[in-house]
Amino acid sequence: MFKINNLTYKYDKNRKALDNVTMDFEKGNIIGIIGSNGSGKSTLFNNLMGILKATEGEILYKNKRLKYDKKSLYNLRKEVGIVFQDPDKQIFYSMVYDDLAFALRNIGIDENTIRERIHKALKAVNGEDFIDRPVHSLSFGQKKRIAIASVIAMENELILLDEPTAGLDPKSTRAIVDIIKSMHKKGKKIVITSHDMNLIYDICDYIYILDKGKVLSKGSVEEVFADSEKILQVGLELPWLVKINKNMKLPLFKSEEELYKYWNKNFISNQVKKLSI
Ligand SMILES: Nc1ncnc2c1ncn2[C@@H]1O[C@H](COP(=O)(O)OP(=O)(O)O)[C@@H](O)[C@H]1O
Ligand SMILES: [Mg+2]
Repeated sequence: MFKINNLTYKYDKNRKALDNVTMDFEKGNIIGIIGSNGSGKSTLFNNLMGILKATEGEILYKNKRLKYDKKSLYNLRKEVGIVFQDPDKQIFYSMVYDDLAFALRNIGIDENTIRERIHKALKAVNGEDFIDRPVHSLSFGQKKRIAIASVIAMENELILLDEPTAGLDPKSTRAIVDIIKSMHKKGKKIVITSHDMNLIYDICDYIYILDKGKVLSKGSVEEVFADSEKILQVGLELPWLVKINKNMKLPLFKSEEELYKYWNKNFISNQVKKLSI
């Protein structure tokens, strides 16, 4: 997996989009990279995929330094998939089937296996109906699901998701969250960027905060969100379950369901006791 050592990236001479960034993706299974607009999240992903080349520092993948020749990048991209924030950036063919088949043909998969993998991947994103649709006829959220189907069909080991729910309605967001959770269950490793702190809190087990290209904080979800000042300082918000913990002196719940269970057990049973006196 990726280890990033003192990575600096400059688009131009004077400004560092990434500034001495050190990260280790062995720290978690679903890693969140959070930070406000312009903090360097997409630049980081582009460096990991070899689309951009580090100005200083190094990126190791499976303990080997990233190489930028065609063959090395081809091998890297067999194992690591990315879903860009803008689905139009990654969809090349006008028909959904052809688009999904393209990357698979590129890595030499035979046509029968391609057909099977595409059906399976579209099923996973609940998009089987899209198979013979022109891409331009799909909504933004549907295109995002196709982009995710593409990394599922590639059977990538590691998937980078750049703001996968940005611009989606609640139903599509839930659909994407379910897809991420099921990819994780199948043993895929996921690195996700998002502005949605509730989503990050729900699914991630390790977090890095990027601020103006620098790692400002890192740790387990509980550790990072415990420092509410830092979260607010970088223009982000606390997840609602963390706010409840801080402001209502209730335990820190990991999920909505845990809170309801606690409430039903402690509050409702007290009410019943009072009533029965
Ligand atoms: N193609 C580019 N050319 C010059 N500067 C860029 C380019 N892309 C991004 N930047 C700058 O790099 C910084 C980090 O951007 P980006 O990685 O897109 O942040 P994020 O994804 O966190 O919003 C910002 O200051 C942005 O303006
Ligand atoms: Mg971005």
